[in-house]
This record gives sequence, C-alpha cells and structure tokens, in this order.
Amino acid sequence: MKKNYSGKPFRRGRDSNDFSRFQHKNKNVPAKETSTESFAERQEKIRFAANTGKTYEGKYLLLDSGNGRKLEMVGSLRLIRPALNAFWKPTLPESEWNKADAEFRREPGTGGGIWTWKVPQPGPEEWTTLWGGVFLAVKPTNFGHVGFFAEQAPNWEFMRECVKEIGGHPKTLNLFAYSGGATIAMAQAGADAVHLDASNGIIEWAKKNQSKNPASKDRIRWICDDAMKFVAREERRGSKYSGIVLDPPSFGRGSQGQVWKIEESISGILQSCRKILDLEHSCFLVLSCHSQGFSPTSLGRILAAEFPEAASCIEYGEMTVPETDFKGVKKENRVLPAGMFARFFLKK
Ligand SMILES: C[S@@+](CC[C@H](N)C(=O)[O-])C[C@H]1O[C@@H](n2cnc3c(N)ncnc32)[C@H](O)[C@@H]1O
Repeated sequence: MKKNYSGKPFRRGRDSNDFSRFQHKNKNVPAKETSTESFAERQEKIRFAANTGKTYEGKYLLLDSGNGRKLEMVGSLRLIRPALNAFWKPTLPESEWNKADAEFRREPGTGGGIWTWKVPQPGPEEWTTLWGGVFLAVKPTNFGHVGFFAEQAPNWEFMRECVKEIGGHPKTLNLFAYSGGATIAMAQAGADAVHLDASNGIIEWAKKNQSKNPASKDRIRWICDDAMKFVAREERRGSKYSGIVLDPPSFGRGSQGQVWKIEESISGILQSCRKILDLEHSCFLVLSCHSQGFSPTSLGRILAAEFPEAASCIEYGEMTVPETDFKGVKKENRVLPAGMFARFFLKK
C-alpha cells in the first residue's frame, strides 16, 4: 500500500464501482429494460423522431471498442465515436459495426469533427437515454460528445451512497457541473445540490435533464458563474457543504471569460474547497479529470495534500466504462479506460 507524506496509507486503485465501505446495501435506481432492436426498427424510430419532434428512450450500452473507436447504443441509436486509447482489436464482427446509425470522425486541425448519419440525414437533433440511474437528453455535438460522460456513473453512485450515509438533505456543490448527471444523482438521494457551470447553455441542458428525473425536483439551485470566483465568495460568506464534486476541464473559461488551466488552478481551487467543506461532520469530495499529465496517483496525492485528515480514506483509480452484450450483461475483462478519479468519504 502506498503512503502519503503524512505517513498514513491511502487506498490505491479501488474499483470505482466498489461501495463496500458503506454499511447498507447498494440500492440502484431501477433501470428500464430495452430489447435489442433491429437496424430497420431503429431507423423507423429515427424517422418517427425526425417527423414528429418526439424523443424516445433506451439505455446506454458500450457494445465494443477497438482500433481507436467505440461502438455504443445511446438510447435507441447505435453510434461509433473515436476512442483513441482503444489500441486493441474489436470483439464484435464488422457486420455489427456496419449497423451503426451514425459515426463521428474527427477533422484534423479543426478541434472538432463531423457526424455522418445513415438515412435520414442529418439525424435526430436530440433524444433521451438512461445511464447510471439518470435520464439524459442526448445531443450530438461538433466535438463528438453527446452530453454525458458514461465513465462517471460509478462516481454518481458513490455520491448517492455518501448522501444517504450522511442522511437528511445535506448541502452539496457540483463545480464544472456540465449537463448535471452528478447534480441529479445527489439530488435523487436527497441532497440539496448547487449546480455551477460557466455556460448558460449548458445549464439549460442540465435543467432539461433534471425535468426528466422527477426524484431530483426542487432540490437543485442553478448558478452560472466562474467556479473559482464562486468558491471564494462562498468562503467569505462562511458557507459549508457536506459534499463537493469537481470534474474540471483541462482548459476552460468562467462566465466572464476568466481563464481556467487545470495545472495552474487545481491546487488553489481545492484549497478554497477545503474552507467550505464541512470537515467537522461526515463529508465527501469527488475529483475527476481527463487531462493529460495527470494520473490516478497524482489526483490521489493532490487530495491527500489538501485534505490530510482524509488521507487514509482517499481512493483513486481510472474511470472506466464496462463493455456489455446487447442485453447489458458485462463482458469479462472488457472495460474502456476514460480519465481518472480520486475521492473520499470522511465519516465522523
Ligand atoms: C464537464 S467539464 C469537462 C469534463 C471533462 N473532465 C473533460 O475534460 O472533458 C466542462 C464543464 O466545465 C465548464 N467550465 C469550464 N470552465 C469553467 C469555469 N471557469 N467555471 C465554471 N465552469 C467552467 C464548462 O462550461 C463545461 O460545462
């Protein structure tokens, strides 16, 4: 076991799905089952959605990965997107990949890329999927994102468990909150969650997601601001939170153009988070990122340096998405790595 500078051990590489630290049984939010549809059935749904403007639902499944790409069911649609770290060979035959409804390909030098849809072009603007117990509005973006990071689901479950363990309606804060998966997960478990993002458009997306998840209703406060500025203001006000979640980008801009660079800003924001995390009582913090130059160990050390009292309960590792068959049954030893996390639940 690794030691941090304080001499206390901290836990290395626990599976992000392992919730054995919690006494009570891990209760998942019930997920809707979907059957495997044929290509023709899915195309019919796309046509229906395009003609009526209605959305349709289905679970998210990572079906396969390899040769730098991944094959996913996102709701009722089968997509191919880049997975640059999938250096291995796919397991499904090419015929299954050929049944994809759309593929996103990067365009070198543009920072973005292009979606190519099979009939009908240009594909649906928006639809809904269910993942990690959260209904999510899905939109294909020019960056190849669809509006959620599937690898965050175990973190969402960790947050739910922490909120339930603390009990009542603990106050939690989600910084860089994006489309709100973590905010909704915490609110579903009973938290009064503050959702902060620098982009109004993204907050509207998160509100739409909230409307699809009634259990989180009336539990979320929406704030469009710069993360650093907001945390400093909360510190001055003497606000305290029982849980803080941060998934910072490598580079970003606050609501008034403030520059965020993860390597320069991470330590400062955690120092401020320390001042507003209620360390006198049971509390939790989840930090994740996808940034080059960081590793699970470095995230673990950053947290141990800022929160030495929590060092022995810090766990860290790679975020991954499990590959499954068409029914959602996990395949042995087939996970797709996607970023890293470090987190702790400090029980008092
Ligand atoms: C979810 S995070 C990035 C996720 C992932 N870690 C990655 O690297 O792609 C991106 C979110 O942070 C928000 N953001 C960027 N800079 C910000 C800032 N200074 N303050 C608050 N939110 C910010 C963006 O609007 C966006 O919704």
